[in-house]
Amino acid sequence: MTKRIVILPGDGIGPEIVMQAVMVLHEIGDKFNHGFIIDEQMIGEVALDAEGCSLPDKTIAKCKQADAVLLGAVGGDPNINRWKNHPTGDRPEKGLLKIRKELNLFSNLRPAILYSELKDASPLKAEIIGNNLDVMIVRELTSGIYFGKKSRVTDAENDEETYATDELFYSKKEIRRILKTGFEIATKRNNNVVVVDKANVLESSKLWREVTAEVANDFPSVTYSHMYVDNAAMQLVVNPKQFDVIITTNMFGDILSDEASMITGSIGMLPSASLGETTLGLYEPSHGSAPDIAGEDIANPIATILSVAMMFRYSFSMEAEAAAIEAAVGKVLADGYRTKDIYTDGFKLVGTSQMGELICERIVNNG
Ligand code: IPM
Ligand code: MG
Repeated sequence: MTKRIVILPGDGIGPEIVMQAVMVLHEIGDKFNHGFIIDEQMIGEVALDAEGCSLPDKTIAKCKQADAVLLGAVGGDPNINRWKNHPTGDRPEKGLLKIRKELNLFSNLRPAILYSELKDASPLKAEIIGNNLDVMIVRELTSGIYFGKKSRVTDAENDEETYATDELFYSKKEIRRILKTGFEIATKRNNNVVVVDKANVLESSKLWREVTAEVANDFPSVTYSHMYVDNAAMQLVVNPKQFDVIITTNMFGDILSDEASMITGSIGMLPSASLGETTLGLYEPSHGSAPDIAGEDIANPIATILSVAMMFRYSFSMEAEAAAIEAAVGKVLADGYRTKDIYTDGFKLVGTSQMGELICERIVNNG
């Protein structure tokens, strides 16, 4: 079967990690007899530099025609705000937000998994983290405070009265569809959902709770509860093993997914999938563009390679192909190879391209 895949390498370490993921794609194609038409397009700072826009129309059009999109990372050095004076206020991250919206990718799946080979890398005590932490964060991705109306009202007479607003908006339809995704996922895991909100303060959270009660009726096998976001942030550190699936808003999901990935000690390992109502999905590592180490061949390509596994699973419904990639990654770790971010004494230190090659070899040789 031939699939059209748009790759958006983006900024920082994006190009080098995507290159390794594309090698893995080809290796899977050879092994399972699939063809891929790969089309590279621009997003982020590279697009701003080349075309003056973080998400050129051509990129949007090509992504809409594709079967799946693989993205590296977006964003330049946060300490050098090169785009402060851009005439339309564009900046690299806007490209990412816009492509999510344009492709209607409202569900963002961010697994936080502890790889047993890496359990010493977790900053939490061994008894807290356990041996098989596996939390799936389901983050709403195309609404909420990220996409509500924004305003800035300047008071020329009294500057201290100048103010800015960001509206937090959710419709029942938007809440229902992300909850359905999350509950559905829970039925394929441990049937346990925690919906994270701030219902003691926010009206939109109260609506989330009402819709949750309705959606839950259709999933009798799933146990669910509600948790305030401040408590959830704490519980992730105190007792992360209590969570199976967390469903939450755009902003809370942004924050909690960084926290959850960090407690596994392997942010360089964690993939993500952004899905909508069709099989078209966007796949990207959970980590950022790490401009400080770009071009040095030291970045960990595993999160991007595992994002390709998610692509096979969620967009192409090819479970054997996804499992082959995940098994190859597991084997490379078991064989003792580590990139710098996950390296500890006694292991074999390898660079970005060598890690990609080792994974490809194990795909060819079935582990
Ligand atoms: C993420 C990132 C983005 C977000 C930024 C770069 C806009 O932090 O994908 O988590 O907040 O969604
Ligand atoms: Mg984030």
